[in-house]
Amino acid sequence: MYRKSSRLIVPLLLFASFSCKDEGAKPPAEGGFVSTDAQFFRIISQDQPFTSYVLFPNVDSVTTGTLNGSIAHQPLVRVSMNTVAFNVLQSGRLPAGTSFPDGSIIFKQILNGNQVVLYAVILKDRNNPLSGNGWLWAEYQPDGSTAISVTTRGSGCVSCHSREQGPQNDYVRTFERQR
Ligand code: HEC
Repeated sequence: MYRKSSRLIVPLLLFASFSCKDEGAKPPAEGGFVSTDAQFFRIISQDQPFTSYVLFPNVDSVTTGTLNGSIAHQPLVRVSMNTVAFNVLQSGRLPAGTSFPDGSIIFKQILNGNQVVLYAVILKDRNNPLSGNGWLWAEYQPDGSTAISVTTRGSGCVSCHSREQGPQNDYVRTFERQR
């Protein structure tokens, strides 16, 4: 009798501990840090495809940037984010004194007319040696080829993302476009 039940309980416990794993707590790259442009692109194209992201709240979906520094990406931009990033917002805003959690992705498509010509992306991964101001930064052509490498650690990005309200919004500038 005792034997029978213990044989049952062990697999049940194992099953329970596996099935309770929180999907959202997975590290951004399976098996360790993102260290290459190909890994980063695979995350936004396959593991967590950008087609599933939600639009940045309370902004026009496609717009010509008019902010200090919008010149970086012209002529049109469309910004979206994954649910890890979206879930931290309250009424569409980043609560004062908080920052985006690791695993947050904010994704910007640059369009020329109807045609998408470039992707710019940031992924929050504070402990990654390639992070700059807590984010990984990269740009890709739509075919996945690298335009600006994650290995640059955002050296061409962070100073402009630190302008205006960047610092109070965890370096995310699109908040300045909100209605
Ligand atoms: C000259 C200033 C400037 C530079 C340089 C710049 N950005 Fe931006 N970026 C902006 C502004 C302004 C926005 C807000 C949207 C807009 O108006 O285009 C933005 C928005 C973004 C967004 C959407 C999230 C957000 O912050 O709102 C991403 C992703 C992004 N940029 C990535 C990058 C990457 C990657 C680089 C470097 C390779 C970079 N940017 C360099 C000014 C800049």
